[in-house]
Amino acid sequence: MQNMITDKTKKKIFVLGSGGTIAGLAASPVDFMGYTAGAAGVDSLLNRVPEIDELAELETEDFCGIASENATPEVWLNLARRAEQILSADDVDGLVVTSGTDTLEEMAYFLNLVLDTAKPVVVVGAMRPLSAYGTDGPVNLYNAVAVAANPQSEGKGVLVVMNDTIISARGVNKQDSCRLNTMGGGDFGTLGYVVAGNVHFSAAPCQRHTHNSEFRLTEIRDLPPVDIFYMSAGVDARLLSAMADLGACGVVLAGFGNGTFSDSVGDQLHDLIDEGLVCVITSRCQTGLVRVTMPGLVAGGDLSPQKARVLLMLALAVGKTTEEIERCFIEY
Ligand code: SIN
Repeated sequence: MQNMITDKTKKKIFVLGSGGTIAGLAASPVDFMGYTAGAAGVDSLLNRVPEIDELAELETEDFCGIASENATPEVWLNLARRAEQILSADDVDGLVVTSGTDTLEEMAYFLNLVLDTAKPVVVVGAMRPLSAYGTDGPVNLYNAVAVAANPQSEGKGVLVVMNDTIISARGVNKQDSCRLNTMGGGDFGTLGYVVAGNVHFSAAPCQRHTHNSEFRLTEIRDLPPVDIFYMSAGVDARLLSAMADLGACGVVLAGFGNGTFSDSVGDQLHDLIDEGLVCVITSRCQTGLVRVTMPGLVAGGDLSPQKARVLLMLALAVGKTTEEIERCFIEY
């Protein structure tokens, strides 16, 4: 019972709600799909797990109540600004953000890159709405607060807690469309377990994050548009230039295998790079590294296309050169 917290040592954990299935409500308890995401406030979620008061002193706020498919980079930016404000209070020891799972990985990685804090920050979601039989929201929230209140979580960057597992924001990916074990950590993202509030870490992230990051919210006004071009056999390469024509400031290519693409896509990429557009190569594969086969292309390492997009947006937002962006993709 390494994480049992007595009243004397109770940490103050702030719970910030942003919507999703974890706060979803449907008319029937067997309706697992046709619910309204984000309909319930954080307090009604907490009311389902009164035992959570034994873990920490809690303060709550509903930041927004959206389905995460409607989250935009502007929502992430505003959420991060509010999170940083909360974390700067001396009496707050950690933060839990409730979120929809569909774009949770991007939001969590964004927070991981910009929050200037060593305090624990945990993002949590659920696959079954609060109104459903066997909803996973209350237990996931209980475990998330346990992780946020545990001193071992300090300095580990933004963590994601679902299905009894602690995963780094950099490594987490949603891998199943409907089942409870949806969040995976790839090769290096799974950091530990949290079972019935008992926290056990076995690993820590080694890339730069949070208080060690160079990306500070005070230097970011907005996030420039960056699009993802997904390779498929025989794809029309003109779609790539259409992205640039429509205003993309950068493009992430989700390439085949270790980062390959067709000759016609290569020709378009060549022209875009010549025109000064930053193009990052990643892979459609779930794990593994990519290689750079064209001068000027930036290697996305083992980041997923959607995480590479977040990092490229941030790098462009603060005016990094292509060489600096290459370094960022190695360090973050
Ligand atoms: C959402 O992402 O808001 C809906 C799906 C979910 O939370 O699982």
